[in-house]
Amino acid sequence: MSDVLPFAAQETAWIEVIHKMDETYADLVRYQVELEKKNVALEEAQHFLASILASMTDVLIVCDLTGAIQQVNRALEDLTGLSADQLLGRPFQSLFTKDSQLLVDGFAQCIRDKAIHDCVLQLRGRDEPVPVDINCTSRYDHRKRLVGMVLLGRPVGELHKAYRALNQAHTELKTAQKQLVQSEKMASLGRLVAGVAHELNNPISFIYGNVHALDRYARRLARYIAFFHEQGPGADQDRLRGELRIDRILDDLSPLITGTMEGAERVRDIVQGLRQFSSGKQGEYALFDVEPVLRRAVHWVSKGGPESLEVDYDLPASLRVFGHAGQIQQVLMNLVQNALDAMAGMEHPHLKIRGGEEEGGVWLQVRDFGPGIAEADLVQIFDPFFTTKPVGSGTGLGLAISYGIVNEHGGRLEAHNHPQGGAMFRLDLPSLRPGDSVGG
Ligand SMILES: Nc1ncnc2c1ncn2[C@@H]1O[C@H](COP(=O)(O)OP(=O)(O)OP(=O)(O)O)[C@@H](O)[C@H]1O
Ligand SMILES: [Mg+2]
Repeated sequence: MSDVLPFAAQETAWIEVIHKMDETYADLVRYQVELEKKNVALEEAQHFLASILASMTDVLIVCDLTGAIQQVNRALEDLTGLSADQLLGRPFQSLFTKDSQLLVDGFAQCIRDKAIHDCVLQLRGRDEPVPVDINCTSRYDHRKRLVGMVLLGRPVGELHKAYRALNQAHTELKTAQKQLVQSEKMASLGRLVAGVAHELNNPISFIYGNVHALDRYARRLARYIAFFHEQGPGADQDRLRGELRIDRILDDLSPLITGTMEGAERVRDIVQGLRQFSSGKQGEYALFDVEPVLRRAVHWVSKGGPESLEVDYDLPASLRVFGHAGQIQQVLMNLVQNALDAMAGMEHPHLKIRGGEEEGGVWLQVRDFGPGIAEADLVQIFDPFFTTKPVGSGTGLGLAISYGIVNEHGGRLEAHNHPQGGAMFRLDLPSLRPGDSVGG
């Protein structure tokens, strides 16, 4: 037997070899195309990563477990003034100043347990140390083995500067605020003193006038009594009685003394009010008739006002209020005083005062015929120190204090303009002790 294949068999074998070669070549071409594709993708991924690293403003340091630097970004190069080539392979600890070394040396040990956050270290900068806020995390390979760490640092120099500036601005603001509060306190005190003087002026001038009259009367009475001591009753007695107007004195004495007492009580109330004002305590409340209080308020205020003042009262026989009569009188005096101020210069100043009972309370209305209150002012007339009066004439406390008093009483004070002109203040006050029912 010959071991030479017949021609036909040889031809088939060759054809198979050529096929195999064709297939292998086709595989090679396919691999080559895939490889090129992968190369392009790899290059793109590298460019992508490089662009991210280059555009990061935070510094990036990647190192192995020994601390040798493996990767950095441009932010670190810029900050340190060293190129990537100079940085790679160096121990990362060398990037930080001496006083940060203790912390830095502990990093490799620490990150085995947990990441390190917001640790401020001094990085050796181009010219001077730069404070950076470092976050450090552990880095693992694809088999989850710890292979190193990644440090991300944010330069906080600007932040620190801004923080220091903010701190200083805050301190300056606090000082300015203290000064402002102090000067406002002094201004309030000045206004309060002026307000108190204004409040005390009425009753004191009233008492002063009465005491003068009493002094005159006392001297005449003394003369009259001396006459009796020296001469005894006789014909001249009637002449002297007439000459000294003893009967008029006797008639006047009682109202003068009552008026003086009322004035003195008012002064006492103001002083008590001031004490309450400073201690914040509520005075003694009681049931009282507000009608005489209202008339007294008008009487006192109008004494210092024009003689031609006309007051119309439209009030029921009794108006019971539960509260502090002195304080309510203060409120009414403020309202009347404001009304008189508004009508200053008018030939016929005129006040209309109405009142009535409502379920659980009473209402009072004080209306004047002055120019009324400007619409824009209506929302602020109860604000402390709001005044349209010239400097030195008004403190702007009258309505603010009145509002506070009425509020304390559980009542309401409202300001309106009357449709036919003039301002109209409405005061609502409770007539029941807290807890009493309407029917009881
Ligand atoms: N009857 C009124 N008619 C017009 N305006 C009024 C009337 N009552 C109050 N006002 C306005 O409200 C402002 C505040 O009144 P408020 O009594 O609080 O202070 P004041 O009268 O200016 O000063 P003070 O009462 O402390 O002396 C007044 O300056 C005035 O502009
Ligand atoms: Mg006033």
